Amino acid sequence: MKLGDFIWRQSHYVRPLYHAYWQELNRKLCARKPGVPCVSGPFVAEHISTIGRIIKLGNVLEIGFNLGHSAYMMLDLGHASRVTSIDIRETDDMVKCVQQIKEEFSNRFSFFHGDSNNHDHWLHLLRSDVFQTGFIDGSHDRSSVQEDIRLCKRLGCDHFIFDDMHEKTGPGVIPAIIEEGGLILIALVGCLGVFRLADGDIFHNKP
Ligand SMILES: C[S@@+](CC[C@H](N)C(=O)[O-])C[C@H]1O[C@@H](n2cnc3c(N)ncnc32)[C@H](O)[C@@H]1O
Repeated sequence: MKLGDFIWRQSHYVRPLYHAYWQELNRKLCARKPGVPCVSGPFVAEHISTIGRIIKLGNVLEIGFNLGHSAYMMLDLGHASRVTSIDIRETDDMVKCVQQIKEEFSNRFSFFHGDSNNHDHWLHLLRSDVFQTGFIDGSHDRSSVQEDIRLCKRLGCDHFIFDDMHEKTGPGVIPAIIEEGGLILIALVGCLGVFRLADGDIFHNKP
């Protein structure tokens, strides 16, 4: 078996507790539908829980919200103090999920409808925020991921979580991290990669 396939398989192993948690989450948020390119399931709950024990997430900027499963879990599991999510789409299901998360977590959660790669119209809205972690899970094209890394750096993030590090679902993620540079790998948790900013990175400025 190739190493990549082994990593892919073991990343889907999950303890029973997280199956129940995932079911409850899907009861609250809209269940995922085919069409959005992502691989998800109870194992993501376990991975986010593990990451929360490795780094302090603090105030999180999430790029790519979809139906808010990761945003919800980061808040609910107590790992993020706040989450601000951005998504280029705004479907009826998404609006329902945004409302649900706002209802439960009130001012610990904000949502922006916008393109993370074209932030002229909305970046000023985030200027007063100080972020610690960028959760990068929007478009998985190399150039787009690279832009997202730059955006998170500009907004002060010193930790980065990349969903879909695997070539099957995120072919541009690893090339973008290598091309952009300045990030140090802390841990691989399933298909999520956790990185920190290298010491002395010169882009670590507020806009
Ligand atoms: C894999 S889903 C996100 C899943 C979510 N992070 C989670 O784990 O529950 C990817 C989302 O990124 C959004 N997206 C793609 N390109 C984007 C961009 N340039 N700016 C903002 N959002 C983008 C898509 O609309 C889609 O909803």
